[in-house]
Amino acid sequence: MLSTTTTALAAMSACLLLYIVSRDRGRKNYPPSPPGLPLLGNTLDIPPRRAWERFAEWSRELGSPIISVNVLGNRIIVLNDARVADELLEKRSGIYSSRPRFPFVNEAAGFHHWNWAFSGEPELWKPARREFEFHTRQSMVRNYHNKEVHMVLQTMKKILDTPENFMDHCRFASGFLILSMIYGLDDPIEAEKYIDKFDRGSEGFEAAMNKNIIDILPWTRHIPLWMSSLPGFGWRHQVEEVKIWGASTRDVMLDWYLSHRAQEPDSVIANIIERSKNSMADEQSRIAFAHKVAGVSYLAGTTTVGAFRFIILVMVLFPDVQKRYIVAVCKETIRWTTVPHAPIQDDWYDGYLIPKGSQVVHNSWAIFHDPSVYPSPEKFSPDRFLTAEGQLDPTVPDPMAGFGSGRRLCPGRFIALDEMFLFTAYLVSLFSIRPAIDPTSGDEIRPSPCDGEGLIGQPKPFPCTIEPRSPRTEVLLDSTIRATTKSS
Ligand code: HEM
Repeated sequence: MLSTTTTALAAMSACLLLYIVSRDRGRKNYPPSPPGLPLLGNTLDIPPRRAWERFAEWSRELGSPIISVNVLGNRIIVLNDARVADELLEKRSGIYSSRPRFPFVNEAAGFHHWNWAFSGEPELWKPARREFEFHTRQSMVRNYHNKEVHMVLQTMKKILDTPENFMDHCRFASGFLILSMIYGLDDPIEAEKYIDKFDRGSEGFEAAMNKNIIDILPWTRHIPLWMSSLPGFGWRHQVEEVKIWGASTRDVMLDWYLSHRAQEPDSVIANIIERSKNSMADEQSRIAFAHKVAGVSYLAGTTTVGAFRFIILVMVLFPDVQKRYIVAVCKETIRWTTVPHAPIQDDWYDGYLIPKGSQVVHNSWAIFHDPSVYPSPEKFSPDRFLTAEGQLDPTVPDPMAGFGSGRRLCPGRFIALDEMFLFTAYLVSLFSIRPAIDPTSGDEIRPSPCDGEGLIGQPKPFPCTIEPRSPRTEVLLDSTIRATTKSS
């Protein structure tokens, strides 16, 4: 047994070396890169947390808004200012609308069969995105308003009952709106069962998105499952878990919809089926199409969980923001997310080669920390979005880069902004949020602003004190829930 493992590990190491050496050799025209080690490139210099800050630092040191880094032979292109991002992702969006290969999720875990949000295949992505966008465009948002209010009230009730579990309640908030809006599941108790089920698998997925061997050595996806019991191969099992979990976030909810559709007509999936009557004669095809379009919703739409947690975090760090500026607080909070794009062909910018298929990272953190656009960018200051009279200042650019750009721009952005606004408005009017107190020293515990790993910012669990502003909060909340349930 030992010799099998040793041989397999030795073979993998040899292949890794060969692969790295061959991968990045002889290409001299990449955007400037910080010095790296032979074979490893810049791998060891990219911190596991807040990598986007290091990218911005390198960009300043190298004097170029576009830089490249070498991670074990993989070339990653990082865009650190709004002008370059606009030039490539917007103006050349035809080239940059693809996605990187994502061998772990797409090939090993089988997402390429259904997840158009991660897909570079235009036949899968284009029709699905077009239909999805129809249901999430700005003028449609008002149709979901009652569902948003219902979700926010149920979440506030949970925060009132168990404030210490606020991180879980943020996940509930995000998941409940998707299940209610997309599938028509409006019962919070039943929805929670599904959200719990989906959450159990999400950690493996998030861990894999941050780092995994298959994205570095795609052929390792062929390693058979039985090898997962060998030392060093435990990750192989993770692939199966992500595969089953990913598919269940879509299939389980379709089954739910099909068995409840007589009672729950009000949902995006029902509307997709209805709309496709003109182009598809048989019901099975219409259901299959709606399933394809809506199936990504849980994975893509629950990004708001990070936004809700950030909202609570900024209230702990900057208690003054609770007194005013809800739109401005939401705008400030959006500044922390980024997802890679991939060009479908080699491209040139300013004399630099951007190779086909390389990851192109839209470093929205760097864009949002450009002092010429946002003075004193390190400061959390919703005031920057306001005029002296306290109105929103139209001359300050909205931080929309947090939703990406070009043809892959987040289609859920209008819904996300609306639910964030409602969540924040109810939260500050019902609760006072303060730093927790250290029981031994008596000092306030100040959480770190963001300990996010990888490329997508997410606050880690942090302690805080959440208390109702008034002894009547419970009564008020209960009566509002009763009134809105009757009227919706
Ligand atoms: C604060 C909340 C959210 C943030 C920060 C966010 C951010 C993003 C980002 C950065 C992308 C990638 C854009 C790009 O590649 O240029 C994206 C894609 C996407 N988002 Fe969101 N999103 C949020 C909420 C939502 C919601 C609520 C939905 C659904 C209702 C949604 C649905 C999607 C979908 C389907 C895609 C894939 C688009 C494509 O590949 O064409 N998002 N989002």
